[in-house]
Amino acid sequence: MVCHALIPAAGGGSRMGAECPKQYLTLAGQPLIRHALATLCAVPAIACVHVVLAPDDEQWPGADIGGEHAARLRVLRCGGATRAESVANGLRAMEGVHDDDWVLVHDAARACLSVAHVEKLIREVGDDPVGGILAVPVADTLKRAGPDGRIAATVPREGLWQAQTPQMFRRGMLLRALRAAPAVTDEAGAIEALGLHPKLVAADATNLKVTYPLDLHLAGWILANRER
Ligand code: CTP
Ligand code: MG
Repeated sequence: MVCHALIPAAGGGSRMGAECPKQYLTLAGQPLIRHALATLCAVPAIACVHVVLAPDDEQWPGADIGGEHAARLRVLRCGGATRAESVANGLRAMEGVHDDDWVLVHDAARACLSVAHVEKLIREVGDDPVGGILAVPVADTLKRAGPDGRIAATVPREGLWQAQTPQMFRRGMLLRALRAAPAVTDEAGAIEALGLHPKLVAADATNLKVTYPLDLHLAGWILANRER
């Protein structure tokens, strides 16, 4: 079983509203992207970590960012207009990766990913014919809003999960799925459109995606308290 990682990092971070794409904001003393990258490089089961940058990215800090893991890092400058397009371009550009190899797609913005969660995903997906994703069962009561901004309905949370990354699929199947369903917001969505049912592997809320300024503070807190 061969595993690779693919980190889409070609977004502009519009919701963060910062002066640079959020993957280059400083988090716990390092560029934000360095955290997920170091975690994935530290998983022995992962052969190579591929990073997808925007073609015109001038902020990638170069070899430094990989540090001691630089040898397992591959930089691909083929990001697209959407996350799905960046992932598909990256899957096509990866060299030496077979169609049957596993690819763990992980958002650069999920900086607090832990080695334990990656290893749990790899272990629980095992040799599954479809693949799987990290996710968290929904804890809150959910409300659907009407056009007037008032509650139109309560949505039963039974069986509802929040999707996270990494999302782990075989390269060939994922490329085929993304070609058929290019408008999805995650890899599992494309696989589901093929009529398949990826496995849900429970993670926790520490694997948050840094989207808004507050998330950067939460991520800093999580990293600081994990290191202690
Ligand atoms: N991403 C990408 N290519 C794009 C858009 C997003 O590689 N065209 C990446 C981002 O860099 C990020 C991940 O996909 O690591 C998750 O996307 P998101 O959190 O939405 O990041 P952004 O698109 O950068 O932020 P926003 O939606 O607020 O603009
Ligand atoms: Mg986005």
